Order: sequence, then structure tokens, then C-alpha cells
Amino acid sequence: MRVTGLGHAGLFIETKGGSVLCDPWVKPAFFGSWFVFPDNRALDWKKYGNADYLYISHRHRDHFDPWVLNEYVPKDIKVLLPEYPTDDLETDLRSLGFTNIIYTRAGEIIEENGLRILVTPMRAPSDGPIGDSSLSLDDGTACILDQNDAHPLDIEALLGFGKVDAYFTQFSGAIWWPMAYDLPLSEKQHFAKLKREAQTKRALFYIDKIDSPHVFPHAGPPAFYDDQLFPFNAHGQHDESIFTDQVEFLLELKEARPDINGYNFMPGTVVDINHGEVTVSQTLYSEEEIAAIFADKWGYFEKQRSERQADLAEARAKWATPSSPEATLAEIKAWWEPLMKRAPLLCDGIGAMVKFTIGDLEIVADFPKGEVRKFDDEAVRYWFDIPAELVATNLRDREIDWSNSIFLSVRFTAGRIGKFNEYLYTFMKCLSEQRIDYVQNWYESQSDDGQDVRLGDWLVQRRCPHLRADLSQAGSVEDGILTCSLHDWKFDLATGRCLTTQGHEIRASKI
Ligand code: FES
Repeated sequence: MRVTGLGHAGLFIETKGGSVLCDPWVKPAFFGSWFVFPDNRALDWKKYGNADYLYISHRHRDHFDPWVLNEYVPKDIKVLLPEYPTDDLETDLRSLGFTNIIYTRAGEIIEENGLRILVTPMRAPSDGPIGDSSLSLDDGTACILDQNDAHPLDIEALLGFGKVDAYFTQFSGAIWWPMAYDLPLSEKQHFAKLKREAQTKRALFYIDKIDSPHVFPHAGPPAFYDDQLFPFNAHGQHDESIFTDQVEFLLELKEARPDINGYNFMPGTVVDINHGEVTVSQTLYSEEEIAAIFADKWGYFEKQRSERQADLAEARAKWATPSSPEATLAEIKAWWEPLMKRAPLLCDGIGAMVKFTIGDLEIVADFPKGEVRKFDDEAVRYWFDIPAELVATNLRDREIDWSNSIFLSVRFTAGRIGKFNEYLYTFMKCLSEQRIDYVQNWYESQSDDGQDVRLGDWLVQRRCPHLRADLSQAGSVEDGILTCSLHDWKFDLATGRCLTTQGHEIRASKI
């Protein structure tokens, strides 16, 4: 089997049973904010587009790039579609003309031409844009796992597919916290450091569980070439950002897990895997060029910034012109209020008023009352300041996921009193009846299974109150604080309180 890196989460996988193109991404994503790092435009996209299968892991625009799919991928390609609860990914793919769809099923292996394929979907509200997935392939010469951004809970099921010879996994961030927040620089620096550490910890957790001898960190970090966002690159110009790079992570990996072979996986990196033997070579960048990129990363960013302004202008040209403040308020009200009424659990979970400043317009989404209205100097718990063009674009395009469009663009500022509220960001990614009904039912059906596990001196419920990870595997306790390594949520065991977000109490007792 041969795996070629296409930049970010992009892979071209040649197997004995056919080739698979995964998550190709070239054009800047999220309102022109994110660019592929390092630049992957010079790859032979025509060749990679002519694969036998297309696999898009999820709808995030750094995995699903309509431009490259339109330009280079024949519309009759076989599409491996993850089994998601909502059909948004399928709708997006069909709207581009792809019709040859293979509906994969969770836990079911497909076998075609001697190639075994398993697409494992994750379907919780917090899984990316509601739905994230991983791809396992085995052609008899190698077994690989492309986990990209997914955070699978049932690791046993993944391992049941076969012993993983080579493991491709995310290690860097994809979030706006803390950069977009209204916080003093020193707090941003503190939280950014915690976030980077948590990301590394999670990547190591999965590396331990998957137990593959060969690890290829991929699916990040992005780069930012808009002047306004440029300081967010890497750890930030002032150490306030979260994007660990490949070389930094490989050093951390070497120190933490010296027996694991980690590789710098670039656009054009070719990995040959043959019955456990792995050889790696570079085809787009030479070893010297790669070393130079990481030795002077800010110099590389500067050079790319001057080269990529046309891409930015092209992205900006697609933004909509804002309507009047009155028309914008009326449109949001007509859209959101019916959704609020359908989702009492979400509204309860948010439990507060949220202020949105959109250009000259100030509005309040009053979740306890299920109402959107003009802001009237009320006390709010959460607030966002968003450029009017971005809101106008999402209104024009009827974008159902504002978390994974506006927020991931980092072109906004936010503030809050108190803790992170998962329900609020879930609402912002569920702006359709289908999605809001799904998450309302999902939250209703969430409960632990009544089982307890012993962790040190504590007896705690087996299932994490967040996404039901098995805490006998993912939990650790220090000074009465339980940390679940999947998303680094913390719980005070003496009181049962979740220290990371509103609600989500845990059942625990001291032995
Ligand atoms: S499952 Fe997310 S923190 Fe435990």
C-alpha cells in the first residue's frame, strides 16, 4: 500500500484493490481564513482526482473543498459516505454532481476487489459539524487508520478491524478558543498553553490505544494569511494561539513515547507500507526545503502572505452585502425562533441571553424565552461581535452551521461570564429542523448506564457525562479532580460538578 500526503488531512491511498482520495483541500476555507500549511498547490491534482474512491470524512471546509472536487474529481467516482444522522454531507456532495454513492454502515466492513474498508462515523453534537468519521483500510499488504479529526469512543471496534500498521491522526487544534475571546493577553497565553497541552495529551491517548508502530501526525495546523488573522499563526505572535506544528509534536512524541516511529507528513510525502515494513520519502519538498520551512516558520508565513492575497480577494468577493439592520433582525428572528421552540433541552442548557453585535445591529437571543429581539441594554451572559458581511453571507446561503463557518473563521470576537457552554455552540451548528430535532433527541437519550468504575480512591460512573467515553480507559484522578482525556473535561468528584462547562454532573463517591 502507498499513502501520499496531500496537505492537511488530504491522502491519496493506492492499494491492491484500488485507490482512495481522502479529504482533498486546496482553496482557503472559512471565509478565506484557513490556508493549507505548507502550500500544496503544486501537487499533481489531476492524478489524485482520478482515484477509484472518494472519501470525505466530514463537512468541515478544510476537508470538503468544493473547488478541488469540481476541478479535478470525475463525478462518477465511487463515494464512500459515512453513516450520519443528517444528510447534509450527502446533499453537499450531490449538489456538486456526485451520484455514485456507497452508503457505508457503522461497524460494517465493505469488501471490494480484496480491499477491506471500514468507515466509522461519530455522531454526537460535539463531533465536528455533527458527524465526523475515520477510515480503516486493509488490502492484505497493510492495514491503516486515517482518524483525521475524529475522536472515536469505541476504540475496541476500530482495533477489531485489524492491527494498524500506520496511523494518521490529528494532533493540532481547530478551534477559536482562546484567540477570539475578550480576555487579557496574559489569560489568553495561559489558556492557549493549556489547550496545546490538552491537544497533545489527547493525541497521545489515541496513539497509546491504537498502538501502531508508525504514526503520521496530520490534519493540521492551518495557516492564516489575512493581515487581521496573521498573528494567530503557530503559537501566536504573542503566544496566544494553539497551533502546534508537526515538528513540535514529533519532538513531544519522541520524548513521551520513544518506541513509536513518528514521521513528518508533508504535502508530497510518500509512505510505502508492505507487511509491516515502512519507507518514507519526500516528493514535493526536499528534506532541505522542509527543514527551512520549520526553521523559519514566520519567514515562511510572511512569504506565503504576500503570495496568497489573490486567493483572499477571491474569497472576499463571495461575501454578501449586508441588508439593513431591520431586515437582518427580521430574517434571523424568522429563522431561529421556530428552532428554539423545537429544542427546549438546548434552550434550558443555554439558559441565558446571548448578545450578537452584527455591524450596527445589536440583537439578543433570549433562550429562556425562545425569542430574538433588539438588544435593550439587558444583562447577558454570552456575547459575540461578528462582521455584518459574514452574517449576510450565511443568511444568503442559508448556512445551517454557524459554528463551523463563522466561528472557525476566527473573524469575530466573543466573551462570556462563567464557563464554556456546549449547548450554545451546538445551537449555532444546528440551524435546520433536521439538525435541531436530532440533537434535542440526542440530549434526551443521554444517560449513563448505571455502571461504576473504581479510579484510585473513588467510585465514579463508568460513562463520561460529556460523550460517554469509558472512564476506566479515559479517566484519571488527581486531588479529587477527574480528567477525561478525550476532551480534557474536568469534574470535581466531591461535589460531582463539571468544572469545564454548565451542567453535566458526574456521580461519584469516595471509597
Ligand atoms: S467524552 Fe468528552 S470529555 Fe469525556
